[in-house]
Amino acid sequence: MDKIVIVGGKPLRGTVPVYGAKNAVLPIMAAALLASGKYEIDSVPDLRDVRTMAHLLRIIGAQVVQEDHKLTIDTQHCSFLEAPYELVKTMRASIYVLGPLLARFGRARVSLPGGCAWGPRPVDFHIKGMQKLGAEIDLDRGYIVARAKKLRGATITLDIPSVGATGNILMAATLAEGRTVIENAAREPEITALAEFLVQMGAQIEGIGTDRLVIDGVDELSPTNFQVIPDRIEAGTFLLAGAITGGEVTVTNVVPEHLRAVLTKLEDAGVELTEGEDWIRVRAPQRVKPVDVTTAVYPGFPTDMQAQWMALMSVADGSSVITDTIFLDRFTHVAELQRLGARIRMEGNSAHVTGVEKLQGAPVMSTDLRASACLILAGLAAEGRTDVSRVYHIDRGYERIEERLKPLGAEIWREEEPWPQAVTTDLSALSPEER
Ligand code: EPZ
Repeated sequence: MDKIVIVGGKPLRGTVPVYGAKNAVLPIMAAALLASGKYEIDSVPDLRDVRTMAHLLRIIGAQVVQEDHKLTIDTQHCSFLEAPYELVKTMRASIYVLGPLLARFGRARVSLPGGCAWGPRPVDFHIKGMQKLGAEIDLDRGYIVARAKKLRGATITLDIPSVGATGNILMAATLAEGRTVIENAAREPEITALAEFLVQMGAQIEGIGTDRLVIDGVDELSPTNFQVIPDRIEAGTFLLAGAITGGEVTVTNVVPEHLRAVLTKLEDAGVELTEGEDWIRVRAPQRVKPVDVTTAVYPGFPTDMQAQWMALMSVADGSSVITDTIFLDRFTHVAELQRLGARIRMEGNSAHVTGVEKLQGAPVMSTDLRASACLILAGLAAEGRTDVSRVYHIDRGYERIEERLKPLGAEIWREEEPWPQAVTTDLSALSPEER
């Protein structure tokens, strides 16, 4: 297992290009199962999750080649319609193959994802959506077993605007008979990108970008080529790296509108922002002001920036409250931040943060993708050395993050993490009572 080491305290200065959006690439890769043929997808980051989805598509029978941010997918020989537990347990987004396999082949066997580092993450909205479209679903020893001669359009109202459920139902509906309406649909830019990809494949979709998607099924779709949108969460993470170190960072190849909620909060925190069509620059004060954040669905403040914001508020000049309304228990990074000297008190799904002058570097452990990003940001600001272990989490969603922060002046590198040696003490020196 690798770790990332940071010697903090240096203001970051410079420009960093942002890569393609992980959460758009993953459903788009699954959508390639909807039509037989060759696809070329551009601006694809080299991430663990992308490699996992590529592996899953290969198990299903597709050919997938990834080189230099370009994915070539050939789905002419898909036959094994299963997403095995060994893969799904490592990446919940594997569930995205359910809709396309059902729509194109009439059957699918997809493992239930199980929990994740911060608690259960059900897929009941995905299953109910497929049932509404006429699929028969059984749960068999941890697997979703789905069958449908032909999916039929339906009106589906989501209890909450689930990103994954919206994407899965949207993909399945493109080949269903008749009209499907998804009410209370997710409006995240990644779902908009998926819808635009499907329209390029010949799907009939109205209401793209709104919370009401209307899909008229077609008999078949055809392969297409596509350029993936920039990753707004990666962009936000790099901007916060500038803000937390009192530096000046410019991110290029971004869509400022996609992270407006984060930009507004950065301005409230006293960061000077300038932006162009596809770039954003932050110029940070020595110390930012405290700003409360409550996460919400798009266009609100994204839950995927909650942990990173908490790192920034840990060194703000005052107290703030950070509430996550999307994932009520997405706070495994709190205990690790406290190891660095952060002052945080949890109350339910709210973190009460009292900013400190300086964090102190220490060994910490990442527990999930955005918690890792949070700890790297904190390490960049902390005095001394911070070792962030289990960085396979961060490699899921950030391509070579240490190589991209170095040009900004960060003292950061990756090290092999020795397996923890069992600690043995010489018990003979202890009295019987002390043993
Ligand atoms: C997507 O996850 C993203 N992942 C997540 O990003 C992101 O945090 C999340 O959307 C919210 O924006 C990908 O796109 C691959 P949801 P998803 O369905 O689809 C509940 C990252 O860091 N729910 O919108 O799983 C769920 O428990 C990752 O890149 C159900 O109850 O999120 C949560 O409370 C982490 N039943 C809420 O809805 C369901 O069937 C929103 O989840 C589905 C979801």
